[in-house]
Amino acid sequence: MEIIAIACDHGGYDLKEVIKDHYANQFEFLDLGTSSADSVDYPEYGQKLAKAVTEGKAERGIIICGTGIGISISANRFPQIRAANCTNTTMARLTRQHNDANVLALGARIVGIEVVFDIIDTFMNTEFEGGRHSRRIEKMSVPA
Ligand code: RB5
Repeated sequence: MEIIAIACDHGGYDLKEVIKDHYANQFEFLDLGTSSADSVDYPEYGQKLAKAVTEGKAERGIIICGTGIGISISANRFPQIRAANCTNTTMARLTRQHNDANVLALGARIVGIEVVFDIIDTFMNTEFEGGRHSRRIEKMSVPA
């Protein structure tokens, strides 16, 4: 079973639990918190997940905050992370095909639960197309 790292702030806590339950037979989740709806700071959780994926503890991850924005910006500071904040299945498909996104970001206050499931299904089951898109991904690395 593929290991999927998952992390959220308080805004994403309920959705994280629903996702873990819904996909329990499909994925093994590496849950990096948060572990309640008490207020926390989303950068810490974006960073925890980015570190776990960078270290190879999981190949792919899901991060959730209220909008999906703050936590994806935080995760994307890590050079090997390509986190895509998706609000529909077209974004989920294209970010896998074109950006080889390795982290899916979700906004718990933005996207309804059925759409969330469709986005996750699409993201997890769509292959990277490679070719010209590989060159573009290589160009994302800014010289130091
Ligand atoms: C927390 O209230 C909220 O700011 C956070 O979940 C997220 O939406 C930030 O981008």
